[in-house]
Amino acid sequence: MELRPLGNTDIRVSEVTLGCWPIAGITSPGTNDEDSIATIRECFELGINHLDTAYCYGKAGESERLIGRALGTRRDEMVIATKGGLHWNDEGKMVHDARPAALRQQCQESLGRLATDRVDLLYLHAPDTEVPLRESAGELKRLMQEGMTRSVGVSNVSAAQLEEFAAECPVAAYQPAYNMLQREIEDDRLPWCREHGVAVLVYWPLLKGLLAGKIGRDHVFAETDSRRKYPMFLGQERQKNHELVDRLREIAAEAGHSVAQLTINWTIHRPGVTAALCGAKRPEQIRETAGGAGWRLSEEQLARIDRALAERGTPDTGLPV
Ligand SMILES: NC(=O)c1ccc[n+]([C@@H]2O[C@H](COP(=O)([O-])OP(=O)(O)OC[C@H]3O[C@@H](n4cnc5c(N)ncnc54)[C@H](OP(=O)(O)O)[C@@H]3O)[C@@H](O)[C@H]2O)c1
Repeated sequence: MELRPLGNTDIRVSEVTLGCWPIAGITSPGTNDEDSIATIRECFELGINHLDTAYCYGKAGESERLIGRALGTRRDEMVIATKGGLHWNDEGKMVHDARPAALRQQCQESLGRLATDRVDLLYLHAPDTEVPLRESAGELKRLMQEGMTRSVGVSNVSAAQLEEFAAECPVAAYQPAYNMLQREIEDDRLPWCREHGVAVLVYWPLLKGLLAGKIGRDHVFAETDSRRKYPMFLGQERQKNHELVDRLREIAAEAGHSVAQLTINWTIHRPGVTAALCGAKRPEQIRETAGGAGWRLSEEQLARIDRALAERGTPDTGLPV
């Protein structure tokens, strides 16, 4: 597993990172603490040294608590990223609050849940329209100066917001959605980050499991599975996605890998991408995904993927970009 620089810091993160949203159990049915802890500990065996979580992953911080429990005395072997600025309100809705005082309080709570005195990377999870971005950025800079985080990142911002944030606070990492079917950042944010030495850690590389290739044509999502409402899993869009995955499966089989591994391999070798944040709730999932690193798709295979994507046409994932 290759370790890559986190922007201009001395921190290095594995090209495959464990995304710790599924273990929070909110959208992923069938999670339990035993599997979640085993999934986190599996990272040590796989050479994954980076965990991505957030203050709002779990209604009461379940994801951060599980990380604290799973790492125990091995905490310093992991680069831990968390995020602030979003939380669950009393009505059970996720809401923005990126005022400086809220960011500070959330950071303090996150450290307690993670059982650590500092995180390695603290992101602004998303901008808050009620709070000037520079105020949120300024507070994250202060938290870094006070030693509560070693570096700062920002997620879910436009190119202009990225620049505005960076003018106030040194940015080590940017975290956008990115995968074969969501490539908007290629036009502006990816080149900006390459030019400014900012690491890009992408979420939804497996597009909520679609690009892991294991959701069959007949699969019916459970009532509790939030994926059931997205256009990419409905009607014509779903049909086109299954056809795309079938073509990826052929290329993956030739390369001796699974569709999930091909997808991750494609992602981590895109110019400017530092790491893929791969969600998993069971050890075998992250073990499979980690097998997306350590080899290269050939030029001919990459060209066939390009053709399959072009012929699939512009997708409607229904997801925010
Ligand atoms: N900054 C942000 O706003 C933001 C937003 C979203 C995500 N993120 C980060 O990015 C990470 C990744 O996003 P994600 O977890 O939502 O989605 P993802 O990585 O695209 O997909 C994860 C899902 O894919 C399935 N999966 C994973 N490995 C698999 C395998 N080997 N075979 C078959 N299925 C597999 C699992 O679904 P099943 O439930 O079917 O097992 C898993 O829950 C998150 O965990 C989080 O850390 C950040």
